[in-house]
Formats: sequence, structure tokens, C-alpha cells
Amino acid sequence: MSGVVISYNERNIATIEDVDLTNKKVLLRVDMNSPIKDNVIMDTSRIRSHIKTIKELVELGSKVVIMSHQGRPGESDFISLKSHTEILSKLLGFNVEFVGDIIGPEARKRIATLEVGEVLVLENTRFLSEENIEMPFEQLMNTNFVKKLSHLFNYYVGDAFASAHRSQASIAGFPLVMPAVAGRVMEDEIKGLSKAINGERPSTLFIGGAKLKDAIKIMNHLIKTKKIDNILTGGLVALLLLKAKGYNIGKAEKIIEEKFASLIPEAKELLKYDNIFLPEDFVSDVDGNVEVVSSKEIKGSPKDIGPQTIDYYNELLKNSKTIILRGPAGVIEDERFRNGTIKLATESLNSNAYVIFGGGHFISILNDLPPMLRKRIGYISTGGGAVVYFLSGEPMPGIEALALSYEKFFKGLKQ
Ligand code: 3PG
Repeated sequence: MSGVVISYNERNIATIEDVDLTNKKVLLRVDMNSPIKDNVIMDTSRIRSHIKTIKELVELGSKVVIMSHQGRPGESDFISLKSHTEILSKLLGFNVEFVGDIIGPEARKRIATLEVGEVLVLENTRFLSEENIEMPFEQLMNTNFVKKLSHLFNYYVGDAFASAHRSQASIAGFPLVMPAVAGRVMEDEIKGLSKAINGERPSTLFIGGAKLKDAIKIMNHLIKTKKIDNILTGGLVALLLLKAKGYNIGKAEKIIEEKFASLIPEAKELLKYDNIFLPEDFVSDVDGNVEVVSSKEIKGSPKDIGPQTIDYYNELLKNSKTIILRGPAGVIEDERFRNGTIKLATESLNSNAYVIFGGGHFISILNDLPPMLRKRIGYISTGGGAVVYFLSGEPMPGIEALALSYEKFFKGLKQ
């Protein structure tokens, strides 16, 4: 091995340069989890981000089998990877094959006959029920998933940084039983985000979106450990906090009550911190009309932060030295409700702060920004929740497993 390792919390992780991939079978875990509307992929950034890793693996003469998840069981974005594969073929300029199977005979048979230069995509890993259970490492090593596939490959390449906070078989199980290296996305993320950890203060996190359980966990950690100076909220995160405060949140009541009522006590605890900020107004869909409504009197379905909130958040962003944007602030899939997210990004980039685009669905507004501003972005992460876990020092099983793999399979090898 050439010794081109990366360092994470003083642990080593091997990279693509450390192994000879000629004629080798490689199991590559990427994260192509994308925003979906009516079964259609709305943004291909996540898919595009892995192109350099895939190209490199093919150019190095390996046989590549790709795994990824899409959505969560029971949600409308929980779809097959067939259309992701079509996009991959277009982006790579050659045919990428899709097999509608993961660990069954169909997939294993195809993996066995794979030739150099061929790229195969397996079905959505979360179609396997055991993949949806986060487990300790000893159990992950013994899942059917890992047992059925690991012996078919020479190497595992971990490129799914955006899912590295999940202790799931496809992410942390394989590296424990076979030599594993970091792909290019994983490598860039670890290096890029490490810069933000030692970022200048004051630091501000904008947190929005609909992954409320994760958001509460993240806010709790960052606020209690004082790793962040301000937290600005938007999206459903903000509506949950307003509901916890006793406000009427209009038509958002239903979703919060039905899906997130158990989070209200924790949300109430967070209201005690005066450096967590809530929107003062929203852009709401009131019987089909777009209206600005005060947070104190929400009517209709609140879908974006309002103009007053944007101004007041912008003041805080202007004075920050490090900004992490983990959004979105509203329902950005709908043109009428993209403004808040775009304005926050614009103001952040107009400041002198080091700005990190904390991934997930936030990056899908990149094309709305002028090129001059895009150049100001310090780092664009493909990870949503993963970014904040990383920055707050939470365990990252997907990275930890790569470090363990290094210790087990690479350490002591002649360089
Ligand atoms: C993400 O979008 O943050 C990752 O793909 C992980 O998805 P998850 O939160 O459903 O595990």
C-alpha cells in the first residue's frame, strides 16, 4: 500500500490509492438518496457527487457493484433505484446495469459474472428489512446482508458520507469483515468538514427540513455542549418548536400531532435556550392563495419563512464567522416557497463567514445562486444529518468502521 491514509479523530482510514484494484470486485456504498416528487428524482446532486469515485474505480480496472438507499419505509420517497441507475448511465456515458435484487440469487449470480469495467446497481438497500435496524457492530457483521455478499468481493469502498451516522449493515457492517477504503466523497467530506470543526466563532447553524427526530437530537447536543453560538430554525423544525410554545400552527397541526407529538416535550426543553431562534412570520398557502402570516396567528398551511424572519435571521448571519446551512427553510420543491432558503444562502455567502452547505436537500437550491456567490461557498457537503453529527462529535459508525477496517486489514502492511 502507498500509505495515502486520511486521519479522523487521530485514527487512520485507507483510501483508494492504498489498494491495487486491477481486476478486483468492489462493493461500493454510495448515498444517492434524493428528493422525490411523484416518484420522480427532483435533484441529481447526490448522484452526481459519486461520479468521480465510480469513474476512478472503473479506470483502475475494477468490477463495481453499487449499493445505496432511497427514502425511508412508509414514506413517499421510498422508491426503487431503477431511475437512479438511468441517471448514472447518462452521467457516466456508458451503460450501468440495474438488478432488482440485493442479496438474492439474481443479484449474486450477476455479481459472480461481472467483468472488468462493468458497473451494476443493486436495489434500494432499505428494501431489506434488517437494513432498517440500527445495530451494534457485532450484530451488523452477522446480518444476512453482510454474510450473503461480503465473500463475493475483494474490497468495500465506503463513499456514503451522508449516511455515515447510521449504524446499518450496508454502511458499517461490511468494513468489519473485509478490507475497506474511503471513496472520494468520503475522503473530501472528512477533510472539508474537519476544517469547520475548528472554525472561527461566532458560529451559526440554520436548521430546517422535516427530519425532526434528528433535528432535535442535533440541536440538543450542539446547544448543551456550546459547540455552536446560534441556531436559527425553519421548516417543520420551527413549526414543532412553535407548537411546543403553545402557538396555533395552522394546517401543520395535523402532521405534528400525527407524526411528531412524542417530540414535543423535548422541543419544550429547547425553548429554554435563548440562542435558538424561531421564525416571526411564514409564507402560507391559504386556500390556494400565497399569504404572509404572523407566527402568532398562522393561517392555512405554512410553507416557508416570511420576509420579517429573513431580515432578522440575516442580521445574525451577517455577524457570524462560520455558518452551517442545513435546510431547507420551506417547501423548496414548490417555486412559491423557495425564497426563504435562497435568501438565507445568499446572505450567508455575502458575509465574510466560512459557509458550509450542510447537504441533503439544501444543495438543490445551488442552481438558484449566481456563479459569483457559488464560488464563495467554503464547502458543500453531500450529507444532511451526517454533517451535523460530524461537527458535533457524535459517533459516525460509517467512518468508525472504516477506521476499524484499517486497523484490522491494513495496519502493519508494508508501504
Ligand atoms: C440523508 O439524506 O440525510 C441520508 O441519505 C440519510 O438518510 P436517513 O436520514 O433516512 O438515514
